[in-house]
Amino acid sequence: MTRRFLFLLGSSRPDGNTELLTRRAAEQLPADVEQRWIDLARHPLPEFEDLRHDSDHTRPTEGNARLLLDATLDATDLVIASPLYWYSVSTPVKHYLDHWSGWLRTPGLDFKATLAGRTLWGVTALAHEEQEVADPLIGTLHLTAAFMGMHFGGVLLGNGSRPGDVLRDADALGRAETFFAREAPLARFPYEKEPAAV
Ligand SMILES: Cc1cc2nc3c(=O)[nH]c(=O)nc-3n(C[C@H](O)[C@H](O)[C@H](O)COP(=O)(O)O)c2cc1C
Repeated sequence: MTRRFLFLLGSSRPDGNTELLTRRAAEQLPADVEQRWIDLARHPLPEFEDLRHDSDHTRPTEGNARLLLDATLDATDLVIASPLYWYSVSTPVKHYLDHWSGWLRTPGLDFKATLAGRTLWGVTALAHEEQEVADPLIGTLHLTAAFMGMHFGGVLLGNGSRPGDVLRDADALGRAETFFAREAPLARFPYEKEPAAV
């Protein structure tokens, strides 16, 4: 099956470190892999309203909600490219993920069943030198993948503050070369048992 990668850019500025690092990693994808890139800041979603227990959500038929929903359902591989903001994902990314909660409850979408078995990846740039401060972002994406029954490819991390800084992070650029070739195991919650060895 042809793989279709959806890259969701989550920075609040264009051409930032996260996007630069993501593009480096994407350059290594084989030519037959489809790539679609959407900048979340330039495709703002409507305000999220939690209607889960009040009324049925309806499938969005227009605008950025429809664009992002359709693109999400179509992707075999979903790449969340979010700068580290306050140790977690950026506001545009969080807002997009909040909309998943509505799409999960939209009759006829089968949102969870469609995403199950597909793969979630992350890319982030952060100013802090010590990468463990990005653990909350990694945990958010990993647990989201576990909830959705998705595979999780992990998070590619790069260092930088000003746009372009990440291009001086040789370790990150090295990791980018093989990032999308790595194994992406089925994501699990920490309390779930490993599958029995065969
Ligand atoms: C609102 C905001 C919050 C940030 N929070 C953190 C943080 O918690 N830890 C950190 O290391 N860097 C933090 N930074 C710095 C950015 O992660 C860093 O500049 C990164 O390179 C931005 O990625 P971008 O160029 O793709 O936008 C923050 C920047 C902003 C604007």
